Amino acid sequence: MKDIAFQRCISPACGKVYALDEIHLKCEDCGQLLDIAYDWDRIEIPQSLHAFDGLTGSVQDPRIRSGVWRFHSLLPFAPLDQVVTIGEGHTLLQQAPSVARYVGLEGEGLYLQYEGMNPSGSFKDNGMAAAFTHAARMGASRAACASTGNTSASLAAFCSVTRQMKAIIFIGSGKISFGKLSQALDYGALTVQIRGDFDDAMRRVREVADKLGIYLVNSVNPFRLEGQKTVMFRVLQSLGWEVPDWIVVPGGNLGNSSAFGKAFAELFSLGLIDRIPRLAVVNAAGANTLYRLYEEQGLRWNEGDPKTDHVEGYYTQLEETGQRAATIASAIEINQPVNFYKCLRALETCDGVVREVTDQEILDAKAQVGAGGLGCEPASAASVAGVKKLRQEGVIAAGDRVVCVLTGHLLKDPDATVAYHTDNAEMFQRVLASRGVEQTNFANRAIVVPNDLEQIVDAIETNV
Ligand code: F0G
Repeated sequence: MKDIAFQRCISPACGKVYALDEIHLKCEDCGQLLDIAYDWDRIEIPQSLHAFDGLTGSVQDPRIRSGVWRFHSLLPFAPLDQVVTIGEGHTLLQQAPSVARYVGLEGEGLYLQYEGMNPSGSFKDNGMAAAFTHAARMGASRAACASTGNTSASLAAFCSVTRQMKAIIFIGSGKISFGKLSQALDYGALTVQIRGDFDDAMRRVREVADKLGIYLVNSVNPFRLEGQKTVMFRVLQSLGWEVPDWIVVPGGNLGNSSAFGKAFAELFSLGLIDRIPRLAVVNAAGANTLYRLYEEQGLRWNEGDPKTDHVEGYYTQLEETGQRAATIASAIEINQPVNFYKCLRALETCDGVVREVTDQEILDAKAQVGAGGLGCEPASAASVAGVKKLRQEGVIAAGDRVVCVLTGHLLKDPDATVAYHTDNAEMFQRVLASRGVEQTNFANRAIVVPNDLEQIVDAIETNV
């Protein structure tokens, strides 16, 4: 009998199936991406999502505490007693009235999903818990990824905490913020700096993983996305299982958007939700492949038959004309997203839209998020900047309930934050002006005072 979970090519015309204990990063027959699929009829799933609220079991059990594995029945590709956790997914959905005002939403309408609260400081730990579980079941001793910094931090953390594997990470030279680089180094990962950018590193790591038989944990690995579905389960749970109107997420390698679309498609087909929220994916203007192909050139999933030649032609043209991704939101500085087709499918599932935002818009939104909540790194703030744009266009209504996923912690990229708030001209030029950021509209400048009690007191009284 077929297993209850298996891997399956996403192309409906192909649909080739692979067992869970095979390692493939694409379909051997047609080259498309793979999904993890389930025979839901043979899986015990709750009658209602409210069942997850009353989870019994010991709170001391880390698998029940995990924000990923407590939803195990919705991603049952490994037995619960064999899953790996480092305490991922203890995240928070927070209402942010001041950010709502900034983007033009009515008071209670904007929610921020703080994925920066994960152990390694970004949403990646959700997906890594799943990919690492599969890697461990496959007996892997080495795991690799290319990264703009967060995937590598997450992999390195899983390796250092569990000591089950050695992490090998590929990063583009000078393309990673210091917060993220320091994590990989401190956690003891073998860090390979490639002269090039993320797209180069991604290509190389695939070749190397293949050549050396190293387990690859980038989001082209379908198990990663199973873990990332749980971000949406937690959002829904925080909203009392009510479906919001919009989910807004930054787009880089397009793993999150793909995972969210899959999560909603599955919940809907299982009858656990009665409608699907709309999805907005926000690119940085300097790394806008999805925006250009989806919004400007009208490319669609087309029920599983997208124009792949058109996409390949676009990538070839980028290569031939030497166009490189360039944005201060280094996490999403990617021109050839590996999950492109899955994201197209998610946009179809969720009646989605794509927008691009400038680095100026990203940094202004980031300052607003920081002033109105727990803060985030630049890429995450693209979601908030995207909502502002969609409100101005009237695509999102003032009374809509909108969830922005804040993908990474504020401390991931201190340079961008300090350059924005400081009045240090050299830093402004180097970090911001070089990217076309001209203004620091919401800068919170430090005040400089002599080391004198009276003058310090004076300065405080006049400023607060
Ligand atoms: N936000 C942050 C903070 C990220 O680190 C990433 C991706 C994204 C958004 C984009 O998410 O790929 O699911 O569309 N970072 C990857 C990395 C590429 O290597 O850490 P996506």
